[in-house]
Amino acid sequence: MIGTDIRLAAEHLNAGETVGIPTETVYGLAANAFNEAAVVSIFRIKNRPFFDPLILHVRDIEQAKKLVKSFPDKALKLAEAFWPGPLTFLLHKTDVVPDIVTSGSDLVAVRVPSHPMTLALLQEVDFPIAAPSANPFGYISPTLAEHVDKQLGKEVSYILDGGACSIGLESTIINCSTEPYTIARLGGLPKHQIEQVLGEPVAMHLNQNSNPSAPGQLDKHYSPLSKFILSDNLEDTINRHLHEKIVVLNFGDTLVNDSIYQLNLSKRGDLEEAARNLFHFMRLLDQLNADVIIAQSLPEYGLGLAINDRLRRAASK
Ligand code: TXA
Ligand code: MG
Repeated sequence: MIGTDIRLAAEHLNAGETVGIPTETVYGLAANAFNEAAVVSIFRIKNRPFFDPLILHVRDIEQAKKLVKSFPDKALKLAEAFWPGPLTFLLHKTDVVPDIVTSGSDLVAVRVPSHPMTLALLQEVDFPIAAPSANPFGYISPTLAEHVDKQLGKEVSYILDGGACSIGLESTIINCSTEPYTIARLGGLPKHQIEQVLGEPVAMHLNQNSNPSAPGQLDKHYSPLSKFILSDNLEDTINRHLHEKIVVLNFGDTLVNDSIYQLNLSKRGDLEEAARNLFHFMRLLDQLNADVIIAQSLPEYGLGLAINDRLRRAASK
């Protein structure tokens, strides 16, 4: 069932059930993080391997502090600047965090989301909410309640409808257990904004297959069912696939023959608009049963870096 009843969503969570929740980044598949059986059902519903840990959502810094051994001053400075918002911290966990949440790691991922309904929900319950993106494992993340309903509607007790996600890309993950801090996942908060607040550079160590110490973020992820190609030169790539049924994910003022079905992430070349449209458009194109989806790569700065990361993983074999 889809609705806007925050009380009802809280009741389901209190009963150990799962609920779809809106955040500013993507929709989450939520459960009581302290209820191990409820957390297990998240993995089951998503068909997610147990080695891929979950993010904990909390209402404020005070609640986050209870989950971690220490919240270093530098991390605190970032939390004060960007929470509520699309930044997730990896910090050393305390024993209150069940091992199943972190897949046995000493680090826990924690963030305060900025969607008003989910912030209100976090006020209603007295536990952190564990929530991965609410999509079947490996598929495109959901940015509308309808996306969650279509794929997981039969499995979750309730979906809290908060409209379209205002950012549309998952949170940026920063590992604060290293010096310098390292970005483990590019996301809705660009790296340069983090560096501006810290006054020092952060490193990049993106989670991937070849980096098993930082699980999740498999090379192949965000994957449509249709064949997906990322292109630096749309015209060239299209010409090589003319004998196939092509659809195009376009960006900016790149001209593509208008006999080819295409969606443009942002005609005016706005990266924030592109991020908001990305997953919805990928889903729409995936429903057309094309032989191949060809996506234009975006400029490599700001949110363009995170968007290209998602497109690259979608195109990964
Ligand atoms: O924006 C977001 O972060 C969304 C919304 C719902 O908050 N959540 C989200 O969760 O994207 P998920 O599960 O789809 O992605 C979480 C990523 C995974 O790549 C996971 O491996 C990583 O965070 N992660 C979580 N806990 C971790 C940990 N303890 N150590 C290393 N990586 C961790
Ligand atoms: Mg995900």
